[in-house]
Amino acid sequence: MDMKKPLLPSALVFVSVFVVCCFDGALSASVTYDNRALIIDGKRRVLQSGSIHYPRSTPEVWPELIRKSKEGGLDVIETYVFWNYHEPVRGEYYFEGRFDLVKFAKTVHEAGLLVHLRIGPYACAEWNYGGFPLWLHFIPGIQFRTTNDLFKQEMLRFLTKIVGLMKEEKLFASQGGPIILAQVENEYELVEWAYGVAGGLYVKWAAEAAISLNTTVPWVMCRQGDAPDPIFKDVSSSLSAFIMRSCVQINTCNGFYCDRFTPNSPLKPKMWTENYSGWFKSFGYPIPHRPVEDLAFAVARFFETGGTFQNYYMYFGGTNFGRTAGGPLVATSYDYDAPIDEYGFIRQPKWGHLRNLHLAIKLCDEYLISSDPTHLQLGNNLEAHIYYKPSNECAAFLANYGSEQDATVTYNGASYFLPAWSVSILPDCKNVVFNTAKVVSQRNFAYTTTDDKLTLSATSWSWYIEKPGVWGNNSFTESRLLEQINTTKDTSDYLWYTTSINIMPGQPKDAFLLIESLGHAALVFVNKKLVAFGYGNHDDASFSIFEKISLVKGNNTLDILSMMVGLQNFGPWFDVQGAGVFSVVFVDPWYNKYDISSEEWTYQVGLEGEYLGLDEVIQANSSLWAKGNILPINSSLIWYKVSFSAPQGKDPLALNLTSMGKGQAWVNGQSIGRYWPAYLSPPDGCTENCDYRGEYDSTKCQQSCGQPAQTLYHVPRSWVHPGENLLVLHEELGGDPTQISVLTRTGQEICSIVSEDDPPPADSWIRNKGFGSQSPEAQLTCEQGWHITSINFASFGSPQGNCGSFKAGACHANILSMVKKACIGEEQCSIPVSAANLGDPCPDVLKTLAIEAICSE
Ligand code: GAL
Repeated sequence: MDMKKPLLPSALVFVSVFVVCCFDGALSASVTYDNRALIIDGKRRVLQSGSIHYPRSTPEVWPELIRKSKEGGLDVIETYVFWNYHEPVRGEYYFEGRFDLVKFAKTVHEAGLLVHLRIGPYACAEWNYGGFPLWLHFIPGIQFRTTNDLFKQEMLRFLTKIVGLMKEEKLFASQGGPIILAQVENEYELVEWAYGVAGGLYVKWAAEAAISLNTTVPWVMCRQGDAPDPIFKDVSSSLSAFIMRSCVQINTCNGFYCDRFTPNSPLKPKMWTENYSGWFKSFGYPIPHRPVEDLAFAVARFFETGGTFQNYYMYFGGTNFGRTAGGPLVATSYDYDAPIDEYGFIRQPKWGHLRNLHLAIKLCDEYLISSDPTHLQLGNNLEAHIYYKPSNECAAFLANYGSEQDATVTYNGASYFLPAWSVSILPDCKNVVFNTAKVVSQRNFAYTTTDDKLTLSATSWSWYIEKPGVWGNNSFTESRLLEQINTTKDTSDYLWYTTSINIMPGQPKDAFLLIESLGHAALVFVNKKLVAFGYGNHDDASFSIFEKISLVKGNNTLDILSMMVGLQNFGPWFDVQGAGVFSVVFVDPWYNKYDISSEEWTYQVGLEGEYLGLDEVIQANSSLWAKGNILPINSSLIWYKVSFSAPQGKDPLALNLTSMGKGQAWVNGQSIGRYWPAYLSPPDGCTENCDYRGEYDSTKCQQSCGQPAQTLYHVPRSWVHPGENLLVLHEELGGDPTQISVLTRTGQEICSIVSEDDPPPADSWIRNKGFGSQSPEAQLTCEQGWHITSINFASFGSPQGNCGSFKAGACHANILSMVKKACIGEEQCSIPVSAANLGDPCPDVLKTLAIEAICSE
C-alpha cells in the first residue's frame, strides 16, 4: 500500500476567512473557518456537538446535563431560541426560569463547552407554532417566512434583541464567551418552493440581516443549498469584497446520514447540524428507536469523508412541559431516544458507545485537520479514507457500507474484519480503536423504581365537574363555524361550539350527525350527554365523526368541544394551517342531509375550570372542589385534585398515568403537559430484534406497537417539595385517578460483555498516550452518587444469553468474588479482559467476560 503523503489539494490552501468585519472596535478574530473546519483561535477544530433545548428541562439540572454531555465527549451545546416564550406579548420580554437563555449559555461556558445558538427565529423543533409568537399572526398583512416587510421587521427586531442580549452578557467567543456559531432561519430549503420568487429573496435578506448584526461568529443556514456565498454588498474595493466574503452563510447538512453532503462552496467546511439520535414521539404512534450501531456508523462515515463538525439532535431531548409541544399531537415526552434520557439519566449503551467513538475520533483530530481524506476502494462496498499529517503519519477509517455481508479487508499490510454496515477507526493507520458495530460499552437494561400509589383511598380526591357547553358571559354568537386558532388565539386548547336542533312533532327522533374537523380532537355532547369522541393524528390531524344520536321533541342542545394538541410547527405556510370544526351535517333516518354549519353557533373559548384557575395552587382550598365518598371515575370533563407526598431523594419523578384517558396535569401549579395514554398505536410495525444494518428512518426499529406512546410523565424534582404537594388533572375522556402512581428510580441494572479480541477502550489509549499492549476492559459506571451494590453474574469464558439472563457456558471461570472485590461500593470499576488477569478456564479459546451488576443510590 502506498503510504506516501498526497500533495495538499489546492482547495485546501488555507483560506481562513476572518470574521473581522462585524464587531465594532473588537479586533479579536477568534472564530473563523475555511474549507476544512471551524477555526477557533487560529486552529482548525474537529467538534462534537449536541442539542439541549433549555426550556425542555429546568435550570436546576442544566449543570448536570452539561456535565454528562462533556463527559460523553461533546465540545459544543446547540440550542434553538424560542421566540414565543421570550416575547409572549409584543414588546414584553421574558427570560426567567426555564427560559433564562443567558444563564443556560453561562452554564455551558462554565463547564468549558461552546455554544451554537440557533436564533432562527423559526425553530421548528416540535415546538408550539415552530417558536413563533401567535400575536405575529394577527399583524394585519403579515406573511411568515417570506419577503414581507411586516414579517421582516419583526424578525429583525427579535434577532437584534437576542444578539444584543448576548453581546451585553459578553457571550460571543470574541468577547470571551462560549458562542462560536449562530443560525438564522431553519431548513428553509424544504419550503422555499412554496414561496416562489419571494422565497429566494427572503433567503438573501435573512442572510444579510443576520450579518448586519455583527456577531463576530460565523452564521449557519442549515439545509440551505442556496445559502448566499458570498454576499457582495460593496464590490467597489477588494478589501470590502474580502470582508463581505467573510460574511457568507455556511450551509450545513441535516439528516440521518450526511457523509455524501458537500457544502455549496469550496470555501465552506462540511458541517452537520442535525444528526437524529432517534426521533420524536407522537400520541398514537409507536416509540422511535435508533440503534447506536447505526448512529455511530453515520457519525464515523461523516468524519471519514471530510466532516469536521457534527451535532446530535438531540443529545438530551427532555420534556415538552405545559403547552410547548408542537403539533399536531406531538407527545409531552421529547425523549428522542437520546444519549441522555428524558429524566437526565445516561442511556446506555448509546451514551457510552458514542463516547468511545468521540474518543477514537479525538485520537485522529490532528490528522483530520491536516489534510483532505485520500480515498482507497478496498472491494465491493468496502473503502478506506486516510488522513495524513505533514509528517506523513496517518489515521485511517475503514468502512464496510454494505448492509449484509461482513468482510475482511487488507489495508496497509494487515487484514481487518469489518462487520456489515460498520466503520473501524485506526488513529495510527494500524490499530483499530473502535468499530461502530462492536458495542463494548456498558448496557443498562432495567431500572428499579419505587412505585407508590399517590393515595390509598378514593376519598383523598376532590373533583370539579365541567359542564358541557357555554359557561361564561364572554361567549359570542355567529352564523358560521369559526376556525379555532383565530378564535382562541391559542390562549387555551379548547373551544366550545354550541347550537340547538329543534325536533318538530312528528319528526323522527333518531338521526345521525356528521361532523368534520380540521383537528385535532373533539368531544360531542347531545343534550349534555357525551355521544362521540373523534381525533386525528400527527400526520393528518383532520377527522370526521359520524354518529347515531337520539333526540327529544323540541329543543336539543349540541355542544362540541374542539381540542388542540399542539400547533403545527413545520411545512410551507404552516402558520395559517387551521383547526377546529368546519362542517356539521344533520342526517335524518332517510339519509336526508341538513347542513347546519351556517346555523347560529355560540362560542366559548376555554373551559370554566381554566377560567377559575383550578390548576393553580391558590385554588387548592377553594370550595369549588367537591369531596365525598363516591369519586366520579371514567367520565368525561372532570377536574381532579389530590395532595401527595413526594418520594424522598433528589432524582426526578414520573407520574404513571396509564389509568387516565386524555387531558392535562399540573404539579404545584406547574403544568407537566398534556397526557393521552388512551391513544394506542397500531398493533403492527414493530420488530422484536431490529437489524441496525442498512439505511435508518424513523419508522425502522420502532417499539411499543399497540401501546400508548407515553404513560409516564416527568415531574422535575425541583417542582416538588418535602411534605404535601398538589396534583391537579383535567381529564377529558374518562379515567381512574386512584390508580395513578408516582415513580422514582432507586437502582439500575447494568451489564457489560467484552471479549478478549475487542479493542481496548479509547480512553485507555489517551491515558497511556499511545497504542501499547493494553487489554480490552469491562467498564461499569453508575450514575453520579450511585454505587455498585451487587454483582449478580460474572463469568469469563463462553457465557450465554443476554443482559439480564446470562448463564455460564461450557467454558467458565468463576470470577464473581474477584469482580465483587473490585466493584462493590464503587461508583465505577474496570476489569481488564485477559486470561492473565482473570485466569484461563479454556486455553486457545477466545473468551468473553460478562458481568451483571446493580447500581443503587
Ligand atoms: C428538522 C427540524 C428540527 C426538528 C426535526 C425533527 O427538520 O429542523 O427542528 O423539527 O426536524 O425532530
